[in-house]
Amino acid sequence: MKIVRHVAELRLGSSEVGLVPTMGALHAGHRALFGAARSENDVVVASLFVNPAQFDEPTDLAAYPRDEEHDAAIAEAEGVDVLFAPAADELYPRDFGTWIDVADVGAEGAARTGHFRGVATVCVKLFNIVRPRRAYFGQKDAQQAAVLRRVVRDLNLPLEMRVLPTVRDEDGLALSSRNVRLTPEERERALGLPRALHAAVGSDDPVAAARARLNGLHPEYVEIVDLDGAKVLAAAVRVGSTRLIDNVLLEGDLS
Ligand code: PAJ
Repeated sequence: MKIVRHVAELRLGSSEVGLVPTMGALHAGHRALFGAARSENDVVVASLFVNPAQFDEPTDLAAYPRDEEHDAAIAEAEGVDVLFAPAADELYPRDFGTWIDVADVGAEGAARTGHFRGVATVCVKLFNIVRPRRAYFGQKDAQQAAVLRRVVRDLNLPLEMRVLPTVRDEDGLALSSRNVRLTPEERERALGLPRALHAAVGSDDPVAAARARLNGLHPEYVEIVDLDGAKVLAAAVRVGSTRLIDNVLLEGDLS
């Protein structure tokens, strides 16, 4: 696996490229995306970039786990050909001033001002730098996938968006780099989130059904997100100081 730090070094020729954008702290959710990209493309590029533009809380950016050596070993083991790991000023030079602003960013966007502007901008930059035929994202961040599908459609970007199912721990908690911040007691409470969402599937009013089952967890929101015809029931909660999001498929198909 080659590690590339500069845009000018990325020369992929005319191969069919699959791109998996990540912020590192890689886990089995990311590995599933690498595996899908590996099986569907000639060349797999993963990006490893903690994107400052998408953090709405400076403390969250500072606390984001970083371990490039560990991440590079995981990417290599999953068959990634090129790891694009630029420094922040490689993607955001001092006079950077062009942003992708997406309408209708849902409750997740409303809860995190500027977050999806940062996500959409960095992803469009990565698409232009890597020029993938396919780009891989997780259902775990359903509103992110919905926003990016819209960007690809609205701006006629020549790539296919692939959205893969959420990978969960054995106890049902969706894998997330933030889970390491939970104490054992908080983790137990956090399980109320996937349980409430799953229990609401099939109900006439899934939002109300999930809210009723959240057992003392206070949701920032519970909402239905439309993902190109598929519908997911999504929610965000805070457990202690950790913010967790999750969603379940209500109808349709994500691929
Ligand atoms: P990050 O949180 O590192 O996630 C990278 C990709 O992995 C995203 O598409 C995310 O949805 C997916 N993912 C995370 N947890 C998952 C899980 N449990 N199961 C399946 N997929 C999972 O999302 C980002 O980074 C950034 O916003 C990024 C798109 C890289 C832009 O900076």
